[in-house]
Amino acid sequence: MSSRIDYLVQPGGRLAGRLRVPGDKSISHRSVMLGALASGTTHVTGLLEGEDVLCTLGAFRAMGVQAEGPQDGRLTLHGVGLRGLKPPAQPLDMGNSGTAMRLMTGILAGQSFDSVLIGDESLSKRPMKRVSEPLGAMGAIIETAEGGRPPLRVKGRQKLRGMHYVMPMASAQVKSALLLAGLYAEDETCVTEPAPTRDHTERMLRGFGYDVSVKGATRCVRGGGQLKACDVDVPADISSAAFFLVGASIAPGSELVLEHVGINPTRTGVLDILRLMGADIELLNPREAGGEPVADLRVRYASLKGIEIPRELVPLAIDEFPVLFIAAAAASGETVLAGAEELRVKESDRIAVMAQGLKSLGVEARETPDGIVIHGGRLRGGTIDSHGDHRIAMSFAIAALVAEGAITVRDCKNVDTSFPGFAGLARRAGLDLQVRHD
Ligand code: S3P
Repeated sequence: MSSRIDYLVQPGGRLAGRLRVPGDKSISHRSVMLGALASGTTHVTGLLEGEDVLCTLGAFRAMGVQAEGPQDGRLTLHGVGLRGLKPPAQPLDMGNSGTAMRLMTGILAGQSFDSVLIGDESLSKRPMKRVSEPLGAMGAIIETAEGGRPPLRVKGRQKLRGMHYVMPMASAQVKSALLLAGLYAEDETCVTEPAPTRDHTERMLRGFGYDVSVKGATRCVRGGGQLKACDVDVPADISSAAFFLVGASIAPGSELVLEHVGINPTRTGVLDILRLMGADIELLNPREAGGEPVADLRVRYASLKGIEIPRELVPLAIDEFPVLFIAAAAASGETVLAGAEELRVKESDRIAVMAQGLKSLGVEARETPDGIVIHGGRLRGGTIDSHGDHRIAMSFAIAALVAEGAITVRDCKNVDTSFPGFAGLARRAGLDLQVRHD
């Protein structure tokens, strides 16, 4: 068993300076997947070297893809073409990553060999029917464990047929799994989303020379094409920047610049929500990098107020709610979130775990089936159980900036899944954070 990591964070302080947070997790996963399946050599820069992405890379290496790196965010992939993967000798371990498991299921459904996908304790509890059922309707054969959970056994040599799927939930992972399977299907595969979700798969497929048609809320691909290698420059992850955006917004005297952050409009719900709460965030030098809009974000302390979070922003900020709840706890007045039941099936039940943590710091937080109501006010110090959820761990570390006592966050090892180097970067910015190994 590997050792446990806790954070001990002293109260107070402010955040200042210039930082570049690691690469975008969603784009990093996809650059590995598309680079591996392309013909030719793909060079990736700015890759997130987090455990989730390394699981995706490990899976392709296990299926015969040669790659050099990653080192300092650089990865070279020698693509094998859509039909060039080899059968893996063992189950493919997706670790903690829902994105890796769901998108890989779409790819594996189109292969000429059987495969098995497994994950860690958290991933093994997460719902997979949302991909196995629509893929089944395309002709894939995917066995799940009880209740539609992993492991997933994907049968190869199935003839996939394109179809039009209307998604019951707003999920970029489901959309992406189906579009990736669509590369292997006869005719056209179309997915209609009930609300806009991150569109990196569509953008990156096009970047790799594959046509994706978009009409309203529907995205379609036609099977039988080819991916052509291309270079990918991965911007810094707005989901990782979010911890610092909130930290600098709530800690008096803060001023921070976050460099080269991806500001794809399907990801910027966190900026909209923080601005509605009164945050002072400026976009500097907006530009384009590798088909994605990026900017430097300047954030200064501001006095935040509670708001009713607009429902249409929920899918556009889905990963940032744990730290937005910390902003709400530090704000004046009440913040109300509804329409966010998806938070209950992330790396942990993020509504329940955040409510429990906030309450243990003396914050009034009331769970609802699909959201939470938080009364901003004072935060005491205390001990928080992150339930092994990376974003919960980092959120409560940030909360210490406005707490009256020290905060201990237990079980922070999984921060490495999305944000390796968080503790060091947070310290550099001004957080008094010590890492304790049990
Ligand atoms: C992701 C989509 C989101 C998000 C996850 C990454 C992706 O999940 O929570 O961290 O890369 O497609 P859902 O699409 O299931 O909401």
